[in-house]
Amino acid sequence: MSSALEQDSSLRLLALGDGFIYARALHLAAELGIADLLADGPRPAEELSRLTATDPGTLHSMLRALAGCGVFTEQSPGCFALTAVGECLRSDHPRSVRTTIAQSGRITARAFQHADHALRTGDGAFTEAFGQPFWEFLRDNPEEGAAFNTAMQEHSRVERGTIVEAYDFPDTGRIIDVGGGDGTLLAAVLQARPKTTGVLFDLPHVVERNCIGDVGLAERCEVVGGDIFGELPSGGDLYLMKSVLHGWTDHDVLTILRGCRRAMKPDSRLLLIERVIPPGDVPHTSKAFDFAMHVMAGGQERTGDEYTRLLAEAGFAVGRVIATGSVQSIVEAVLHGS
Ligand SMILES: C[S@@+](CC[C@H](N)C(=O)[O-])C[C@H]1O[C@@H](n2cnc3c(N)ncnc32)[C@H](O)[C@@H]1O
Repeated sequence: MSSALEQDSSLRLLALGDGFIYARALHLAAELGIADLLADGPRPAEELSRLTATDPGTLHSMLRALAGCGVFTEQSPGCFALTAVGECLRSDHPRSVRTTIAQSGRITARAFQHADHALRTGDGAFTEAFGQPFWEFLRDNPEEGAAFNTAMQEHSRVERGTIVEAYDFPDTGRIIDVGGGDGTLLAAVLQARPKTTGVLFDLPHVVERNCIGDVGLAERCEVVGGDIFGELPSGGDLYLMKSVLHGWTDHDVLTILRGCRRAMKPDSRLLLIERVIPPGDVPHTSKAFDFAMHVMAGGQERTGDEYTRLLAEAGFAVGRVIATGSVQSIVEAVLHGS
């Protein structure tokens, strides 16, 4: 029966079309803090509805839908508990993604209502939806700005171990993380290589809230506020840029890469850490993110060849593209002719 259902193309399309129902349910569960309320054990939907000021029948229905895809489990009729997947919606889980998902509901979902604008014009739809470009919006709405930085930290927390494992980071030297957010990745690299020093570089209001002091790295890591389109910290041995270039058009990427080249020494290396799109139809999160970056920012994810071409145009030669145990790959580049 079920394999007959799976083979039915119409049903498959209908299920794909209904994907937004699960996404919205998940956004709302994250926003309401349902997983935090279940942290100490199962609770009836009625009690959860009182605690979240929601309608009991509708909340029960939402939780049951999410139980159907493994986020919660309905232990006894009307009584819900967390699964291992749902645990990661808890605010205090070490691999929490609650802020990312809740913000996706407030921001990404709203921008996606204007996806048709992006599709027709090739420009991102964010300004259409929010009245100003993405980075300006985050600057002018500090609560959303802080939530975005937490969301980036959540991604980096999940991915940093695999990145540090996949690349043979040098034992010594100065490592500069350009667009490094709160410093979660750079801190992991510096902790893995105790003789290195670092520079965390991002927009001034972003680096203000960094994790460097909290993890005891203030002595080894400088924190610099600035603009990636301006002057970058010079003389580093290794430059990192994680999830930065995917937010920009090819034209802007070339400007950023050329700025990086100017800041580098002849023997410096540059690592682009991005969701590199694999060839063919193989499912990969980079493909959905590529569409999302087009819709949100007029940016894009790229294939290995596309990064190689942009890097070559900016004066770099690509050494290797290294897969990691996460959705991120590492594109290693050196200055051309070095
Ligand atoms: C998608 S986030 C990635 C953050 C971090 N590298 C990570 O992976 O967690 C992109 C970063 O680029 C920074 N950024 C955007 N525009 C910038 C600019 N003009 N100058 C410096 N940084 C900028 C943002 O503040 C943000 O921290």
